[in-house]
Amino acid sequence: MAITRTFSIIKPDATRRNITGKVNAMIEAAGLRIVAQKRLQLTQAQAEGFYAVHRERGFFGELVQFMISGPVVVQVLEGEDAVPAYRKVMGATNPANADAGTIRKELAESIEANTVHGSDSDENAAIEIAYFFSQCEIVG
Ligand code: TYD
Repeated sequence: MAITRTFSIIKPDATRRNITGKVNAMIEAAGLRIVAQKRLQLTQAQAEGFYAVHRERGFFGELVQFMISGPVVVQVLEGEDAVPAYRKVMGATNPANADAGTIRKELAESIEANTVHGSDSDENAAIEIAYFFSQCEIVG
């Protein structure tokens, strides 16, 4: 196994409920280190660009509106095989299907307001990290 990085977003449902610290505690308990973090209000253009892969899906418009409905916290996480390690602690997209002890099972409100985003591959992690962070903002 190698030490790698993944990209995370703590979504507006979590900033609204003031539970970003709870999310971070679960990230750290899973053995991942938060090596960059900032709180942002996404613009519509930023959210549409970030989720461009989903633009043909029926939920795209609502997803973008949700992602700009309040602040988010964007993060870079580092650890052993960080992409699958974070996906595991995030849990399934729909919290109703997520395993006990995962972020989405314990904290998410719905399939849309599902508290966290995590990259699905090392390649996408690199693209998503570069979308929000410059090298000097990431301190491992
Ligand atoms: P997806 O990439 O399928 O899931 P994940 O976040 O687990 O990688 O979908 C991206 C986001 O789109 C998802 O976190 C929430 C939203 N979404 C909906 O609002 N409705 C849906 O039916 C799906 C599949 C996703």
